[in-house]
Amino acid sequence: MITIRPATPDDAETIAHLHRQAVQELAKDYYSLEERESWSPPVDQGRIDKVLNEMKEAIMIVADNDGIIAGFGSIIPSKNELHACYVSPSFTRQGVGSKIMDALETIAKEHGLKTLKLNGSMNAEAFYRSKGFLVEQYRKYTTNCGGRIDSVNMIKNLS
Ligand SMILES: CC(C)(COP(=O)(O)OP(=O)(O)OC[C@H]1O[C@@H](n2cnc3c(N)ncnc32)[C@H](O)[C@@H]1OP(=O)(O)O)[C@@H](O)C(=O)NCCC(=O)NCCS
Repeated sequence: MITIRPATPDDAETIAHLHRQAVQELAKDYYSLEERESWSPPVDQGRIDKVLNEMKEAIMIVADNDGIIAGFGSIIPSKNELHACYVSPSFTRQGVGSKIMDALETIAKEHGLKTLKLNGSMNAEAFYRSKGFLVEQYRKYTTNCGGRIDSVNMIKNLS
């Protein structure tokens, strides 16, 4: 059974690997291998440290399937921003992403947010639309590795 719980530092390495697997498998119809490598390079200590740093800046949660992490997501309330939502390829299209989004929206409302914005990947646009987000603009996103990839800015009114 899937339960949503806060991410802990012990989850960081698994989250880093899940990020890479999700990008490599689920975004391949929209982004070239070079673009996917730039978005989510091989996991090393630097990438794990980046997840640990994100846990400090953002509120991060995981979808836990009886001890196996099926997905994770995060928001940064001070920026009105949905920062991440990633689901393991083995769990996709089973409602896990929706559970993560529901939990993040509840947290956003608890923080008094009236809107939530995100910069999403093209492969995730239909998912975010199904969650009530509207497109603001399409733009190039600069990855941590310096790559420039297509992305979409979206926004949802929470009230
Ligand atoms: C986007 C993502 C989080 C969706 O997670 P998921 O658990 O598969 O989503 P859900 O099962 O909750 O889907 C809910 C609805 O979203 C829509 N949806 C989800 N994935 C979709 C896809 N690939 N194409 C079209 N619609 C999609 C559908 O309407 C779906 O409902 P349905 O399955 O009843 O048709 C997942 O595909 C993923 O991790 N992708 C790679 C990482 C990524 O790009 N994350 C976003 C970064 S900005």
